[in-house]
Amino acid sequence: MAFYPVNLRLEGKPCVVIGGGGVAERKVLTLLEFGAKIKVVSPKITARLRDLAISRKVEHLEREYAYADLSGTFLAFAASDDPEVNHQVYEEATDRGVLINVADRPELCTFVVPSVVKRGDLVIGVSTSGSYPLLARKIRGELEDGYGTEYAEYLSLLKKIREKVIREYKDGVARREVLAKLLELDTPTLIRELGGRSFLSFLCEYEAKVSQYRKLRPLEGKVYLIGAGPGDPKLITLKGMECIREADVVIYDRLVSEELLSYAKPEAELIYVGKSSGRHSISQEEINELLVSKAREGKVVARLKGGDPCIFGRGGDEALAIAENEIPFELVPGVSSAHAVPAYAGIPVTKRGVTSTVTFVTGHEDPAKSDVDWKALADLNGTIVILMGIRNLEAITRKLIESGLPEGTPAAVIEKGSTPEQKTLVSMVGDIAEQAKESAIEPPAVIVIGEVVRLREKLSWFEEASTGVPRVKTPSRLRLS
Ligand SMILES: C[S@@+](CC[C@H](N)C(=O)[O-])C[C@H]1O[C@@H](n2cnc3c(N)ncnc32)[C@H](O)[C@@H]1O
Repeated sequence: MAFYPVNLRLEGKPCVVIGGGGVAERKVLTLLEFGAKIKVVSPKITARLRDLAISRKVEHLEREYAYADLSGTFLAFAASDDPEVNHQVYEEATDRGVLINVADRPELCTFVVPSVVKRGDLVIGVSTSGSYPLLARKIRGELEDGYGTEYAEYLSLLKKIREKVIREYKDGVARREVLAKLLELDTPTLIRELGGRSFLSFLCEYEAKVSQYRKLRPLEGKVYLIGAGPGDPKLITLKGMECIREADVVIYDRLVSEELLSYAKPEAELIYVGKSSGRHSISQEEINELLVSKAREGKVVARLKGGDPCIFGRGGDEALAIAENEIPFELVPGVSSAHAVPAYAGIPVTKRGVTSTVTFVTGHEDPAKSDVDWKALADLNGTIVILMGIRNLEAITRKLIESGLPEGTPAAVIEKGSTPEQKTLVSMVGDIAEQAKESAIEPPAVIVIGEVVRLREKLSWFEEASTGVPRVKTPSRLRLS
């Protein structure tokens, strides 16, 4: 299991390093950078450690390790060349509740030290939890190139400006926006170019920008209507992710991957508004009111919806309610289950030479009562993708056949697409409803009807990748010749 990262204040804290070789020396040098009070216990030490002991930067106890060395220590490092001593230090430290790191033995560590890039107060740590420290060092090297030494000065400048902004901006939302705007000023480049100019002159210039911005900024919040994708959390867009990170409130539906919520700020309010059996489900009007009222409190609201917000997602209704209340909003499109779920089942919804039309249809209503033109769909001879259609599958397929669609047209049903539980059933329009019943297919599921379904036989990739075998095999009569 991965180690939980924390940053410790080590200034003046007693730390003990058992061992005096090269590994111990590296530990000591890092600890010194962070102001620890260090005791090195070893009969022999490197020349560098000896210099540090002579200049009283570390205390050196020239002997073997003893139980008492752990008394009152905050962190202990066992880096001797004797594995038995290291093991003894580990056991005695864990008995006494002292945090212990044994060099090159992650299983004997209650903490590990990441590979660190340090630029003043900016500390970037990379850890593989002891699994492959060289990888951490490689990544650190890349980060060192990306975050040059100017970042120390940059951060100290940001810190000063932040203190000033906090004093002057009482309104939390305005304050956050100003601080975010500041990061757009590309200050590292600016600092490189500052030359002889003082920070003060820069601050004055910046001050002018801030006050200009203050005049422009509306006081209310903003709503992002975000498509969260069909289930695989990686299918969210970069913009959608940025909005989640920025949000004060995240309002989310049932089909949204919970993993995405972990990207919200720790203090963000998370509100579930999905429908599920047994729970009181909140009405669309109530959701609209919630969006408006949270934005009116000046909050940035991330409204997370499954798939794409505007494909059978009520995104249009919510956008209208927000717009009518003159609240700023953005529609952040998402990857819809309508095409992504078939793709995860190895079914491209269009294919040159096979079909050039695809229709997304809601199967939510009984086809006898819905205003969908099933006859036109049957005549079109293209791909039909039906969402929310599992409960009405029998009636829908009957209606399509009555409207002229051949019973032998290939059909597939994909349950919980793009998730580890994805299940795909392939058959024909004539019997897919019965097969779905037998296979106990449940919503959420997407139904695909059309010749493109046959392509699955060659293109199925996801289920094999996660389990080694397709969950439900393609019947031989639907195989590609
Ligand atoms: C209310 S609609 C929302 C569609 C969503 N806006 C989109 O673009 O994917 C819900 C329907 O989407 C389909 N759906 C959503 N996620 C799915 C998934 N992971 N697997 C299969 N079907 C899914 C199902 O047909 C479900 O009944």
